[in-house]
Amino acid sequence: MDKFIIQGGKKLSGSIAVNGAKNSALKILAALILSPDKCVIKNFPFIEDTLGAIAILEKLGAKVEINREEKIVTIDPSKINKTELDDLLVRRLRSSILFAGPMLARFGKVKMYHPGGCFIGRRPIDIFLDGFKAFGADIKMSEDEFEVSAKELKGANIFFPKITVTGTEAMMMTAVLAKGKTILQNCAMEPEIPVLADYLNKCGAKIKGAGTSIIEIEGVDKISGGEFTVIPDRIEAGTFVIMGLLMQSEIKIENCIPEHLGALIPILQEAGANLEIGNDYIKTKPSEMKAVSVMTHEYPGFATDAQPPYTLLMTQAHGQCIIHEAIFEGRLFFTDQLVTMGANIIMCDPHRVVINGPTKLFGKKLTSPDLRAGITMVLAGMTAEGQTTIENIYQIDRGYEKIEERLQKIGADIKRVKE
Ligand code: EPU
Repeated sequence: MDKFIIQGGKKLSGSIAVNGAKNSALKILAALILSPDKCVIKNFPFIEDTLGAIAILEKLGAKVEINREEKIVTIDPSKINKTELDDLLVRRLRSSILFAGPMLARFGKVKMYHPGGCFIGRRPIDIFLDGFKAFGADIKMSEDEFEVSAKELKGANIFFPKITVTGTEAMMMTAVLAKGKTILQNCAMEPEIPVLADYLNKCGAKIKGAGTSIIEIEGVDKISGGEFTVIPDRIEAGTFVIMGLLMQSEIKIENCIPEHLGALIPILQEAGANLEIGNDYIKTKPSEMKAVSVMTHEYPGFATDAQPPYTLLMTQAHGQCIIHEAIFEGRLFFTDQLVTMGANIIMCDPHRVVINGPTKLFGKKLTSPDLRAGITMVLAGMTAEGQTTIENIYQIDRGYEKIEERLQKIGADIKRVKE
């Protein structure tokens, strides 16, 4: 497997553009199944997760055209002729659960492996299965697989017991072709959700309230295809802002929507970040950082996906703070590896760490456990004195396209070693 080798301590300068959002692209790749018509996706991020989702569509029979230079993917789902998702791909990609709703709505049936958990904690699918049942579907479960089927889906009233991003999206997509009215309550409000609803509405769906906690969907018989532009990745943008602050460097993060970063910006400013914020860019300036505690929260609260890089930033800030990871129970274990680099982090329980800073970090051999911890290790290597090696970088490639080339352009000393 490839690894990254980083020589730390290099100042950064210049501009870095934010790519299309993984967590927006993955949703449109599922939603397009609702119609037999073509869907053209612009500003597409070519990363392991989206390529895996495309492979699932191809295995189902969809025709895919890729134009990497223009960042455009065109998908013709009219030839989908299977209702069973590829086992290996499903097990690799947690978000493959998103295909279930649209497959059920358009073909009346879907069979797939349980997408399983992942390193950031348990990732149950009970809310999805309960949701499909509320639409009138039958569910057959075996140890590894499940099959959902329905002659006809009927509009449902669903109150989500927990706020769930993909759960909200899955039920919204399923309701589009269900008979009658669906009301979803306690919905997630992440920016990817109203963007998906806007696309579906342009194609003929009747969705109201996406982006708020109550979404109402009036079922329609069919929808058409259309054109979708993937929004800038708010997590990538936030990670780059934190990178500029860590490296005490002036960099311009371009092609982003600052308001999509939610609580991250005001919290960084409270911690002393000197930021220039434009309509579609954020500029970092060298800043003296002080410790500020955070608790992760659903949007627009402090995003759990931004927690790992922020935790690293706090190792370089003055004072003591607590990071409370409230969403996933496995998302702080990577801090062990920061401790080997010299960070002063005490784990209170799987959801909370106390950090005392600042402490100097030294290059080490690290292994990336998951996507967001992985990019944090890249940032840690860039901050540290000496050489850092990061293994298992497939996890980083899942969400960050050609990250080493983009970081080299702004002055980082990072190279990919193929093995
Ligand atoms: N949950 C359940 N049952 C379910 C579904 C969720 O108990 O059936 C729980 C989860 O265990 C968790 C909570 O609900 O405790 C919230 O998880 P959520 O369902 O919102 O997570 P997700 O939809 O699976 C998306 C992103 C994640 C991001 C989370 C939280 C996608 C494809 N993934 O996951 O992104 O961390 O929302 O914002 O949109 C990442 O990009 O690195 C990533 C992990």
